[in-house]
Amino acid sequence: MGKLDTERLLLRPLTIDDSGRIEEMAGDIEVAKSTLNIPHPYTEGSAVGFIESVLSAEKNNKIVAFGIKEKESNLLIGLININLSEPFSRGELAYWIGREYWGKGYGTEATKALLEYGFNQLHLNKIFAASFTSNPGSWRIMESVGLKYEGTLKQHVARFGQFYDLAYYGLLKEEFFAESQKDSIKQSIK
Ligand SMILES: CC(C)(COP(=O)(O)OP(=O)(O)OC[C@H]1O[C@@H](n2cnc3c(N)ncnc32)[C@H](O)[C@@H]1OP(=O)(O)O)[C@@H](O)C(=O)NCCC(=O)NCCS
Repeated sequence: MGKLDTERLLLRPLTIDDSGRIEEMAGDIEVAKSTLNIPHPYTEGSAVGFIESVLSAEKNNKIVAFGIKEKESNLLIGLININLSEPFSRGELAYWIGREYWGKGYGTEATKALLEYGFNQLHLNKIFAASFTSNPGSWRIMESVGLKYEGTLKQHVARFGQFYDLAYYGLLKEEFFAESQKDSIKQSIK
């Protein structure tokens, strides 16, 4: 697994040294509350166990995960991953960005890069993602990278004592490559 270079970001493998920064950003309730698995409170030192479990899952082809680094500051600003289901050639996208960095298009930029990686390098047949319907920041990202709405599962999950509807978005390999072809035709006739 290499690094993914975008205009403003560098997506690179996680290391144990990222733990403090992850605790600092993911420890923010505003980040944790619209995800399904970030613990809250995020106790000091617990990101080490999280990173170790991700690195071991990577060895077993269960996940590909990247730390998102902002080129300008050279700081880690979030995480993005694809959980892999090898038998179905399918991956589920998940991501979070530190609150200080929201609204700059970073989530969209990182997700686009991972989508390309998932289809071009991992050769997945389908990439999908789920978002609370109450989290427009997340489903707007899915829409702008080209994932298509597939449906909503009502009160499918609970978080901090409240039930949430989950909206699912997905994209097939054939749809991704058909879109890429259209884009390159548009570029060539510009
Ligand atoms: C969701 C999240 C990743 C968005 O990251 P971001 O870097 O701020 O996203 P972007 O700047 O790329 O914005 C994406 C789109 O969502 C919109 N958006 C972002 N935050 C929004 C909000 N709070 N309300 C409404 N729209 C919002 C942006 O305007 C943009 O829309 P556009 O493409 O029409 O311009 C970030 O808010 C986050 O990490 N939240 C907590 C964790 C989380 O929810 N993860 C996703 C779980 S499925």
